[in-house]
Parts: sequence; C-alpha cells; structure tokens
Amino acid sequence: MNAPRAGFQRNGTVEIREEQRETWGTRAGFVLAAIGSAVGLGNLWGFPYKLYSYGGGAFLIPYLVALIAVGVPMLILEFTLGHSTQRAAPDAFGRLHRRFEMVGWWGILLSFVIITYYPVILAYCFSYLWFSLKALATGANLPWAGEGLAGVTNAGDFFYKTYLGYSEDLALGGLRLNIAVPLALTWLAMYLCIFRGVRFVGKIVWLTVPLPWIMLLILAARGLTLPGSPQGLAFYLNPDWSQLAKPSTWRFAFGQMFFSLSLAFGVMITYASFLHRRSDLNNNAALVGLADTATSFVAGLAVFATLGGMAFATQQAGHPVPVQEVVKGGPGLAFVAFPYALAQLPYPALFSAVFFITLVTLGIDSAFSITESILAAIVDKTGWRRGPVLIVMSLVGLAFSLVYATAGGLNWLGIVDGFVNGTWGIAFMGLLQCLVLGWLYRIDRLRRHANERSDWRLGAWWNGLIRFLAPVTLGTLVWWSMFDDFASPSGFLRDAQGRWHAGNVAGLAVVTLAPLLALAFSSLRGAREAAPHPARPAAPFASGLPALVAAVASVAAAVCGFAAVLAACRGGRPGDPAALAALAAAALAGAVAAAAAYRHIRRAAASGADPAWSARWAGILGTVALGAACGFFLALRTSVAATAAAPSAPAEGLSAAAYGIIAAIGVLVFGGLAWSLYRAVTAGAREDAAGERI
Ligand code: TRP
Repeated sequence: MNAPRAGFQRNGTVEIREEQRETWGTRAGFVLAAIGSAVGLGNLWGFPYKLYSYGGGAFLIPYLVALIAVGVPMLILEFTLGHSTQRAAPDAFGRLHRRFEMVGWWGILLSFVIITYYPVILAYCFSYLWFSLKALATGANLPWAGEGLAGVTNAGDFFYKTYLGYSEDLALGGLRLNIAVPLALTWLAMYLCIFRGVRFVGKIVWLTVPLPWIMLLILAARGLTLPGSPQGLAFYLNPDWSQLAKPSTWRFAFGQMFFSLSLAFGVMITYASFLHRRSDLNNNAALVGLADTATSFVAGLAVFATLGGMAFATQQAGHPVPVQEVVKGGPGLAFVAFPYALAQLPYPALFSAVFFITLVTLGIDSAFSITESILAAIVDKTGWRRGPVLIVMSLVGLAFSLVYATAGGLNWLGIVDGFVNGTWGIAFMGLLQCLVLGWLYRIDRLRRHANERSDWRLGAWWNGLIRFLAPVTLGTLVWWSMFDDFASPSGFLRDAQGRWHAGNVAGLAVVTLAPLLALAFSSLRGAREAAPHPARPAAPFASGLPALVAAVASVAAAVCGFAAVLAACRGGRPGDPAALAALAAAALAGAVAAAAAYRHIRRAAASGADPAWSARWAGILGTVALGAACGFFLALRTSVAATAAAPSAPAEGLSAAAYGIIAAIGVLVFGGLAWSLYRAVTAGAREDAAGERI
C-alpha cells in the first residue's frame, strides 16, 4: 500500500513524493473553503458599487468575460500548481524550479500585509454587531439613527468621529481600545478556526460560507419586498451600454474579478495543496468562480433594494434622501450608508444585526485563508510544528494590526490596501504568475495533471489563455494604472512643490520590500529540498533568437512609447502621432515575438526537448510589451477620472433590459453553477459505484 514511490506520477508530470499530508477530508470541505476565501467583503462593498458606477447591468458583460477568460483559467492554474506539488505557494513554485520560489514568497509577503489590516475591518463589524445586538436587547435606538440628510451626516459622524476618532492626517494618534479589543477577539476567532488543521477548517466553512448566504438572502428578500425597491434596483441594473465602449469599465471589471477570486497571493495554491491526490480541479475552479459571482450579484440586489426602500421611506416621512445621496463603496457603504438605510426601516436593530453577521461571516473565512496560507508556507519550508508557528504568527499579526486601531488608522488602511490589492500588488503578482508558469515552465504538464483527474477537460486553448490572454490583459491593467499613478497631476511620490506624499511613499516601500524579502527567504535552506527535475536536452539558444530579437525590439518600442505618451499627456495631445506609432510598433513586434516563441516551444516539445531560454524570454518580453503598448494606448486616450461620473437617475424603475439582465444572469451564472454541481455529483456517484472514493 505505502510503496515508497507511490507519489511519483506517471508520464513524469511533476515529481512529488507523497508524504502524509493532511487533507480536507471531503470535496465539499475544499470547495467551500475556497469559496469562503473568495467570497469576502469585496463582494458586498466592492462589486455592487462598481457595477452601479460603470454602466449598471451592462457591467456584467465585461465582468463575465473577465471571469470566464481569465478568472477561472487562472484559478485552475493555481489549483493545479498546489495540487501537483502538494506544497504551499513558495515551495510549490520552488518545486518547479529553485529560482521560482521567490514568486511564492512574494505573494505570501503581500498577503501578510493584508492580514495586518483585514481583521481590523472585521473588528469594526464585530463592534457594530455588538451595538445592534445591544439595541435589539434593550429596545433602544441604534446609535447611528437619524432622519433625513442630517441623519446621514449623523451616521457618518458616529462612524468616523465617535467610533474611530478619525483624523484626516496621517499621524496615528493613540491606540483606541474600542477597536483594539474587538481586534484581539477577531484574531482569537481566526486562531480558533484554523488551529486544529485543515480538516477542521473544512468543517468550519460549513458554517462560515452558508451562513452569510442565508443572511444575504434574508436581506435581499427583505429589501425586495420593501416599497420603493424597484427604484433602487434600477440604479443597480438598468444598463448604460455606452459604458461598454469605455476602456475604464473593462479595467474595473477585470480588477474587481481578480480581487474577488483571491487570486495571485497563493491562497488558492495552498488550499489545493491539501486536496486528495485524485481530486477534481477544473470543475472545482468553475464552482468557486461561479459561486463567487452569484454571491456578488445577490449582495448587490440586497444593497440596492434596501437603499431603494430607504429612499421611499424617507420620502414618505417628509425628509427625502435619494439613493444617489448615500450610495458608496467600501467602509462608507458598510458602516454609514447601509446602517443608515436600515435605521429608516422597520425592525432596524434586528436587520442591522443580520447585516453585521453577514459581514463578519463573509470576511472571517477570507481572513483565515490568508493566515492558513502563510502558516502552511512557513511549515512547509521549515518543517516546524504548526501549533507554535500559528501562535507566534497570530501575535505578530495582532501587533502589526494595532497600528490601524488608531485615529489615523483608517487612512493608512486605505493606502496600504490600495497598493497591495491594487495594481502594484495583486495585478502585478498575477502577471508574474502567468509569465513564470506560462513561459518558463512546461504548462502542458500542469494541464495534463488537471485533466487526468477532473470532471471535464481543458483543451490546448487553456495554454493560450495563460500564455497570452491573461498576461496581456493583466499587463494592460498594470501598465495603464501605473502610468496613471505616475502621470497624476498632483504628483505620485512628490507634489509640484516638492513635498513628499507620505502615504504613497510608504505604500510603494511596502510593495517593493516584498520582493526583496522574498528573495532573502527563498535563498534560505529549507527543511525539505525539492527533488530535481529530470534533465532533458534544451533546444539550442540560437533557435529562439529571432523571437528574442523581435521581443527586444518590442520592449524598446514600448519604452519609447511610454516616453512619448508621457510627453503627449503632459502636453494635452491625445492624438500624438509619434506616441501612437511607437505603441503600434511595440504591439506588433510583441505579438510577433510571442507567436514565434510559442511556435518554437511547440516544436521543442514535439521533439522531446526543453525550449531554449531565448524563446522563453522572448515570450515573456513579447507579452509584457504587448500589454504595455495596450496599457499606454489606453492611458493616452482615456482619463479615468472623467469616466467615473455617477450614472443618471432612472426614475421610472427597472427597465425591460434590466429584467433581461436578471434573466441572463440567472441562466448563465446560476445555470452554470447548477451544471458544475451536477457534474461534480455525478462524478462522485461514479466513483462511489467503482468503490474508489476516499
Ligand atoms: N476575495 C476577497 C474579497 O472579495 C478579498 C481578497 C483578495 C482576499 N485577495 C485575497 C482574501 C487573498 C483572501 C486572500 O473580499
């Protein structure tokens, strides 16, 4: 049974020595845990607001395109990497090649930054839950209750002034116990969820995933039955098709999707590393992606229906507050607008409690997924015992997070989050991941690994998505928004007067420190060194040379394009021919380089050789330059600030198109979910019948 080489795979896919690695126990445990990580605060306070701001129901088109073309394929990539190596992110990358280990640590370090502030938001939620329960028990008013527009200000004051003691400037000020105490409790709760290992996490998520769904359904059902809810939904769903022509709509759709699936930081790699050897991967990824999207959509229904009800109720009461006055994203929605809206409606304390239970349970499994992935990374590398590492890590994490439990804390939270979860962190990491796995590693191996055990199979198109489409779209995103940062009229690191922007400097320091530390960590000797790859002859360097030449040319053209675009933007010349010519040259040469590299790699694989380094790097440079050319082009032609205007108010209620959109989402997302579940269940039944299930 326990043959020593049992873990080596057929056809030399990826060399793994199977050890006694803990597993999830059940397929549902894993799928729910991955959904738990993906479904977080972003679904409730990010997605609905983005949808509202960028075209209403029309936004769903770019979002679904992003999900299907990039999100789910990358989720499959992460699952397969974790599963085939049975290691947390750094070691998983390290098993492919010693030098890649750094990529894993980079993501882990950025997720450590997240885990220092994500629990702080959960701490706010716990506090607000406490206020709601207290009001429920005593029958008193909610502390943020108020009427009319003054009431909105009042709710804002309660959050910012009374609760946070918020100050605009970046000075931290003293520690606030009213945040620090629930923060410590949050860390304790996270500790309790994961200290007994992943098998137990697989059970906890039976609570933390369905519970917020039930709560969201309650909130949605409640909202939809309020008079005035169709007017609220009209803001959410009435499509503004003209937004589809604006590239920034696509940019935010891709960004939101990528963030929402918890990609790029290694969480999904780590979770998949605890899967049983024969577990499905592809269908699980589809399940996670679709469930996440479905949750976002329902969260939006709950939010906008309730806001519509609020608008109606305040109008009836003679102190009208229209939806546009309150609708916001982020903490402003969760702690000001939505609580205010609930306070205008019957049973305020009860539904506030429901709402904050939703937030707490939405967020906690995202938070502990990060702790778990950092923990597994350390344990896999050092071989230390899990228990003590988790205790030390939780205490260190708590100590760092106290920084945010201060008067200036929310400012810093916003800055750090903007960097780590924005372009500089998550999108860049995603790009790196695609490039490393797509071009430097034989991605066919991963595909074969996934297909050997999945309910349905990936075609060769998947390689193309990971090699071309994902890095080009992510690259576009990265370069475009970096350009926006640098070209910002108020300056990025220093303003016109030469004063430093402390927040941006600190944020940039955090994101640049990560790769340096990652390099240091990956050079430490681990407890278990990766088994070396079986050597294969490499194709000669010269055979990839034409591709490399084209790639270098494309990078050079992209650099010239960057300079020209910068000059054109400063000079207000959006049609500058020099800039356009340089960008077109970069894009063309990049595409040629990538295509030539791809051809070389396929030929090398067919003859049993490893592709030459020249071709691999040609692929990387070519796709990066292609993405850069697209990004700079969009930066030249678009001003993001100008397109972020609020949509006009659709007074009459839901349009026919909006009903069509609801129906289409029902068929696509919920139908897709049902199909994936059906495949999973029938595959399970077949295994049961064959007596194979473990
Ligand atoms: N997906 C989470 C949300 O929607 C946020 C998130 C982004 C995240 N990256 C992550 C959570 C990494 C855990 C790990 O709120």
